[in-house]
Amino acid sequence: MKVWLNLLLYSVAFAAHAGESISSARQAELHELLIEDCGSCHGSRLLGGLGPALTKQRLAKLPRKFLIDTVYNGRPGTAMPPWSTMLTHQEVSWLVDQLQKGVKTP
Ligand code: HEC
Repeated sequence: MKVWLNLLLYSVAFAAHAGESISSARQAELHELLIEDCGSCHGSRLLGGLGPALTKQRLAKLPRKFLIDTVYNGRPGTAMPPWSTMLTHQEVSWLVDQLQKGVKTP
């Protein structure tokens, strides 16, 4: 009985953990979104346009939470739209992590 309980708890914990990672297929989609959708304002090489450059040089200095909040909720009163209807909070966090590390652009 105890063994089964442990197994059950283990699989629940494992499922919860698996939910935290983003599949490589989804990562590829998010990268495309970054270049095409975010790039429409931030420049296709993310060097800036209507919105500021999203380079590692600029973003590494800014607090992660602040950037996640900017992307998830947008910046009211500016052209930066909220992405909360299109992306999960976890996906936004992943995107911000990529940007702070530096994203490969065409
Ligand atoms: C319609 C145009 C537009 C689109 C699309 C857009 N942004 Fe923005 N973004 C802006 C503008 C304008 C700002 C500057 C807001 C301000 O004045 O504070 C901004 C600000 C930001 C900032 C904060 C930069 C800083 O220096 O504080 C980040 C991060 C960001 N955008 C990421 C993204 C990401 C990621 C996407 C795609 C998921 C995206 N943006 C799509 C227009 C856009």
